[in-house]
Amino acid sequence: MQIDSPQFWRAGAISVIAVMTVVLIMLTIDSLAAIRSGGTHVPPYTVINQKIGYKYDSARAIDVPTVAGDEPLFGRAETSEQVAALIGKGKLVIQSRSCMNCHTFFGNGAYYAPDLTKSWLDPGWDAWQAITAAGSKEEAMVRFLMDPVKFRTWTRTMPQLNLTREEAVAVVAYLKWMSAVDTNGFPANFGLISTSR
Ligand code: HEC
Repeated sequence: MQIDSPQFWRAGAISVIAVMTVVLIMLTIDSLAAIRSGGTHVPPYTVINQKIGYKYDSARAIDVPTVAGDEPLFGRAETSEQVAALIGKGKLVIQSRSCMNCHTFFGNGAYYAPDLTKSWLDPGWDAWQAITAAGSKEEAMVRFLMDPVKFRTWTRTMPQLNLTREEAVAVVAYLKWMSAVDTNGFPANFGLISTSR
């Protein structure tokens, strides 16, 4: 086959596409394994049964989530099936109410309201716990989500989205799980904000 023949270039194009298709499929399989819950980069859903914290990792020069000890949501440890169902519901609530129209998740969404990736670790919940008269952070989050207008703390107010208690609990489970994801330090300086408050 001559270098100036159309067949040569056609065969070249077809083989490059074929090889790259295989590479793309392999990368997709690899990424899906890494980003599923319990994969190499994402904690299992059962992480919501544990205490999640945040600390500066000097080797990586970023803040990383820490997971240690038992601290189940609402004091009730749940099985992996139960937490998967709860977090799945939380995700549907978040999608159906378009929380992303105002908030960002992992940096995706709108910039009207705070990023929610590490919201679970926001020290602001201490203040919300006081104003909602809740016995725990998760209860304060549920009360806020069910009535954000009543418990507003900012110049911008989150609208009343009429979440049921069940829906709010599922959202809180989702937010707790999300806070344990190692996001390579995103959002930047979140740890500094929390310690300087
Ligand atoms: C119309 C815009 C808007 C929409 C839609 C919206 N929010 Fe908000 N959200 C806000 C604003 C503004 C605040 C800050 C309110 C305050 O501090 O009083 C806020 C605050 C929050 C906080 C507290 C964040 C923190 O750590 O300080 C959480 C959690 C939250 N929203 C969750 C949600 C969820 C879940 C949804 C969807 C079910 C949602 N929001 C939909 C505007 C919105």
